[in-house]
Amino acid sequence: MVNYMNNMNKIGVLFICLGNICRSPTAEGVFRKLVQDAGLDVKINIDSAGTSQYHIGVAPDARATAYAAERGYDLAQLRARQVSRNDFYKFEYILAMDELNLLDLQLLQPEDSSAIISLILDYKSDTIGSETQVPDPYFGGEQGFNHVLNLLEDASENLLSQLRAKHQLNR
Ligand code: 4NP
Repeated sequence: MVNYMNNMNKIGVLFICLGNICRSPTAEGVFRKLVQDAGLDVKINIDSAGTSQYHIGVAPDARATAYAAERGYDLAQLRARQVSRNDFYKFEYILAMDELNLLDLQLLQPEDSSAIISLILDYKSDTIGSETQVPDPYFGGEQGFNHVLNLLEDASENLLSQLRAKHQLNR
């Protein structure tokens, strides 16, 4: 059967951090695998971007790539980009890693964009702790990357469950 679906018909999910080299590419990798394993990649378009220009065109941080690979997530092909005005029309869900990203996105959002901007940890389980923001692991130790993965795996599961319910995604 010919698949006529393109990105315009898909539900758009965009993950945002500051540099697009640590947290948001990790979120993209985690969520992409979850969606692929569920057979829903034809229905959900996933991407990530940064609010800054710092690392445009650069591959994810080597530590982020290595820790993600240990859990079966492939970040190697990703390249950093900066969020653009067009993203606010292309993606229905824009998920910020921290409060500063959220504020930057709210300031950038065009008035006629109906994208829903929120913190990714709004989707986390109660059991995983009380953090509301994904901490930036860039200047910290290696354990920070595993912590980011733990938070994002949990939030991604709940995000996908909510998208399934809201958009009646049965596959
Ligand atoms: P990210 O981490 O926002 O999770 O990609 C950072 C990467 C780079 C910088 C800060 C945070 N930086 O200042 O260059």
